[in-house]
Amino acid sequence: MKRAPVVLGIESSCDETGAGLVREGRLLGHAVASSMDEHARFGGVVPEIAARAHVHAAAPVVRAALADAGLAMADIDAVAVTTGPGLSGALQVGVAAAKGLAYALGVPLYGVHHLAGHVAADTLEHGPLPDPCMVLIVSGGHTSLLLVRDLARDPIVHLGDTLDDAAGECFDKVARVFGLPYPGGPAVDRAAREGDPRAVAFPRPLTTRPEHRHTFSFSGLKTAAARWAEEHRAAGRPLPVADGAASLQEAVADVLTRKAVAACAEHGVGTLVIVGGVAANSRVRALARERCAAAGVELRVPPLRLCTDNGAMIAAVGDLLVRAGAEPAPLDVTVDPSAPLEYAALHPVASGPYQLAGR
Ligand code: KG4
Ligand code: ZN
Repeated sequence: MKRAPVVLGIESSCDETGAGLVREGRLLGHAVASSMDEHARFGGVVPEIAARAHVHAAAPVVRAALADAGLAMADIDAVAVTTGPGLSGALQVGVAAAKGLAYALGVPLYGVHHLAGHVAADTLEHGPLPDPCMVLIVSGGHTSLLLVRDLARDPIVHLGDTLDDAAGECFDKVARVFGLPYPGGPAVDRAAREGDPRAVAFPRPLTTRPEHRHTFSFSGLKTAAARWAEEHRAAGRPLPVADGAASLQEAVADVLTRKAVAACAEHGVGTLVIVGGVAANSRVRALARERCAAAGVELRVPPLRLCTDNGAMIAAVGDLLVRAGAEPAPLDVTVDPSAPLEYAALHPVASGPYQLAGR
């Protein structure tokens, strides 16, 4: 009997180069390389540096993932790659690598939406997602509440997004003002351990009007935190960073979990899945646990290593698509840096001078 297909996933949308191998919903092995340190002195990801780092890391990371899984190139039955959203140059490196591998191995290629990858990450730890489930995606670029049914087949219903900054962006920008290192989220999380979450009464944006119940906004909170820091500096007082970090983290965690749990109740959904880099935040996790328990909602959060960008989550989507019999991407599939999330499969095709006549 032929074994189930092995899917290689490649992720390169931002500063992590990831490769992962998944078969029938099970993670076989993965590897991640990060160019985070190279961006630190600029205080944010520099697209050209990220793209160049992907060029250097792509082949070694795929080899490391295969070694981790105890597999060889010839064992790969399909390749899935993030085609968007993300940094254009960074995405192009991963897509080129994936095309090269798929073509050389003679296996199908699948284009995957990065955020669907974050959603699927949880299946590698906790098994298939219940249908329906509520998903809160909180990363450096996105904050969205999604109603998810069958990830490989059904459209993903967007209940709400952020009007301005993403939750992770808020952490990153405020951390910079507080003098904490980049990336800001983990630094705020660490600093907050020593602080009092009630020290500063930061605002809870968009928590009053019913029409905003699924919508987020973090730029006002960011400004309030920056102003609080400026006031201390102007008065010549030392900045109580731990208290500021704990209070900021409390405000973000409060807003995120309050809206997500309320959305579960409103839509009669029994499972909340929190994914993306900010799902690694200790207070977000603890408050979500508390509020889900009180509301009788099952909470699923992937382990930390699967919350931040990685290739295994892309392989997880690829594996679902293969098993659902989805159509592979054509070899002229291209990147879509600002792809909206509609379906997990994302197959933008090159247009313009490279398009073949009659297609
Ligand atoms: O999902 P991700 O790895 O990349 C994107 O697709 O954006 O998320 C990165 C974001 C960054 O803003 C980072 O500061 C934040 O996740 N982050 C955290 C924590 N770990 C990572 N934010 C708060 N607390 C953390 N422990
Ligand atoms: Zn991400």
